[in-house]
Amino acid sequence: MRNIPFGQPILGKEEIEAVTRVLEGPQLVHGPRARQFEEDFVSFIGGGHTHSVSSCTSGLHLAYVSLGVGSGDEVILPAQTHVATAHSIEYCGATPVFVDIDSRTGNINLDLVEKAITSSTKAICVVHYLGLPVDMDRVNELARRYELLVIEDSALALGARYKGVHVGLLGDAGSFSFYPVKHITTAEGGMFATKHGELADKVARMKAFGYDKMVGERVVPGLYDVDMLGYNYRMNELEAAVGIEQLKRVNEFLELRHANNEKLRRALEDVTEISLLADGDDVFQHAHYCLVIVLIGAAADKRFEFISSLRAKGVGVSVYYPGPVPQLSYYREKYGLEGKNFPGALELSEASVALPVGPHLKEGDTDYMVDTVKSSLRELR
Ligand SMILES: Cc1ncc(COP(=O)(O)O)c(C=O)c1O
Repeated sequence: MRNIPFGQPILGKEEIEAVTRVLEGPQLVHGPRARQFEEDFVSFIGGGHTHSVSSCTSGLHLAYVSLGVGSGDEVILPAQTHVATAHSIEYCGATPVFVDIDSRTGNINLDLVEKAITSSTKAICVVHYLGLPVDMDRVNELARRYELLVIEDSALALGARYKGVHVGLLGDAGSFSFYPVKHITTAEGGMFATKHGELADKVARMKAFGYDKMVGERVVPGLYDVDMLGYNYRMNELEAAVGIEQLKRVNEFLELRHANNEKLRRALEDVTEISLLADGDDVFQHAHYCLVIVLIGAAADKRFEFISSLRAKGVGVSVYYPGPVPQLSYYREKYGLEGKNFPGALELSEASVALPVGPHLKEGDTDYMVDTVKSSLRELR
């Protein structure tokens, strides 16, 4: 029997040697690697300004605070996302306003966004769900009309482009995740991105306590001022060293993801008990974090039996996400909403299963997954 993990970072001697060089050197933080990683990232996404940060969540938090989102403001976001998308809004005292998703794509339902806009709305946060870009022309048109900021949660979307522009550069600010099973990893870590230079300068200081002079810029050690409530959200040199090496391989990783997705999709698209989430195209260039199958008809109520069967046969799967965020206790108790207010999100969170497409898959794994999905579906009948 095979044993296929849902995700597995690909780390080799390059990463090990890079980390060793940092450990043997004089600088564990404030060093050249974080800066190099940021520059390399700008080259990969094709422009803008970036700051390495301790996680995607901290990058999102910095985005809101640096853009002046705070108490009394509302931020529209999809109900179907990681809790970090909502938490980062809560951190700055703003109110998350959840909107249902389009269950064919997993992305925020743009027909519902306009209805959720009030005089307190300050921003729209989109999540490029599992790597599929949101229709950013429509989002930006709404943002222009109602004078709103646009934040892109691009945690799972490294490599995704909309009309040729990399996600994270389509709105006012974006953030990426490098948690271990993501497109590239730095263990924990993230990247803040923006097309606004001044905002980037502010975030540079905000991620480091609000110092007016960084360590290398201080003429006399200890001589600095602090004129804002900054955070300690920097990425250290060990993480950045790994990130630099990972980024050298991101195109190779992405190609493997696209190829694995294609093989699985072609082999599963005619299976009657499931539907597949929409794929990308030349306009919506998908980053293929995973392939989501949605159980339909009688199979929809047997998702956990299906997952157990796949796992028993060695296929690692995941669920994105376990339930609409407003149904999690913290949000339910605070805002009094329930999953059933978000039928699209509920459908996806209750009936979907994410299959791996990552570069860790070995020869024959996709064929094995297809056979296993089919045999496990037969067992449900
Ligand atoms: C959509 C989304 N946003 C944010 C995050 C949080 O990322 P991090 O763990 O880097 O803070 C995740 C994590 O998977 C996510 O899926």
